[in-house]
Amino acid sequence: MKTLQVNSIHRSYPIHVGAGLVGRTGEFLRRMRNVGQVAVITDETVAALYRATLDESLQREGFSPTWLTIAPGEESKTVASFERLCETLASSGMRRDGLLIALGGGVTGDLAGFVAASYMRGMDIVQIPTTLLAQVDSSVGGKTGLNIPQGKNLIGAFWQPQMVIADPNFLTTLDDRQFACGMAEVVKYGAIASASLFERLDGMDRETAQQDMENIVYRCCGIKKSIVEEDERDTGRRMLLNFGHTFGHAIEQAGAYRTHTHGEAVAIGMVMAATLGESLGITMPGTAKRISDVLRSFYLPVECPYQIDILAPLLQIDKKAGIGGIRVVLLEEIGTSLLHTVETVEIMKLFDKGGAL
Ligand SMILES: NC(=O)c1ccc[n+]([C@@H]2O[C@H](COP(=O)([O-])OP(=O)(O)OC[C@H]3O[C@@H](n4cnc5c(N)ncnc54)[C@H](O)[C@@H]3O)[C@@H](O)[C@H]2O)c1
Repeated sequence: MKTLQVNSIHRSYPIHVGAGLVGRTGEFLRRMRNVGQVAVITDETVAALYRATLDESLQREGFSPTWLTIAPGEESKTVASFERLCETLASSGMRRDGLLIALGGGVTGDLAGFVAASYMRGMDIVQIPTTLLAQVDSSVGGKTGLNIPQGKNLIGAFWQPQMVIADPNFLTTLDDRQFACGMAEVVKYGAIASASLFERLDGMDRETAQQDMENIVYRCCGIKKSIVEEDERDTGRRMLLNFGHTFGHAIEQAGAYRTHTHGEAVAIGMVMAATLGESLGITMPGTAKRISDVLRSFYLPVECPYQIDILAPLLQIDKKAGIGGIRVVLLEEIGTSLLHTVETVEIMKLFDKGGAL
């Protein structure tokens, strides 16, 4: 087991990373504080796979958790689910000194995190992320969120967990697309902050990455920790975590969130940002090719399927006027990133050249 300590403004908490750790959850809780009532929020898919293991670990230490289950997928990150979960907690007699556990991917973590931030004006939560994306990204940093019809994550709060338990064994049951989605974020960490992590990924495939997963998750969490410690409220350095996300979000939106997963869209977005950086003379030549080679080995797409006409309004640039610009994260080289305002005309040139490579 490896442990990182995240020091946020209101709380310092550990991230434990290690194979088989879910079986030690009860033991971790017992050591934490005098925990009373425990409720676990999870989705149906994760419950079918892992409820028994977590339940056994909790029961062994004398906890009798209440289980609250949501339907899997983004459709559950709603105000209606939030309300239902709060009502169920209240009916079960959950008090403010109880503890929530979020067992699942980013949807469960974001929703349960917001419940924890709000129920009785705030209660403790332990995050047990079960997807790669959740282990390296959403469970760390305290952002919680709900979607409303007007947009994703428009409701939310910063609410730090008491502990994160990241067990790489969960990742063996992810389907290939979901695994790849998380790998896009892993590649992002290497690209923005760690040339050595990036080089380690070079030449890996799912099987070899899975064997090295404890290390990979630990290193990604370490990078996210150092960035969020410096900029908890997302007003400065934390924006570097958005590498590939400016174009990625537009690509996701263009396909109505059905054509590309978030990770697939970010993969394309990273190659576009690197290509853009190269054409501006900011990014070392050959970087976009290196990124796309690593992404391809995890079966991630690297080419933008949309024309500028479709993406321009989503990027909030005016193609006809050709004025103004957008803030994007660019690389100087693998492992070094910066925020840069790019003129609309430069983005148009990128598309004229074919969008991606
Ligand atoms: N809070 C943050 O900082 C932050 C950062 C990035 C993303 N997010 C949010 O995260 C969400 C996406 O997260 P996600 O990709 O984990 O989605 P998810 O939670 O929907 O999980 C994806 C699918 O995988 C299944 N699953 C989960 N663990 C599994 C396992 N071990 N084996 C088999 N199947 C499993 C789930 O049931 C679900 O169907 C989005 O809502 C996004 O907004 C939040």
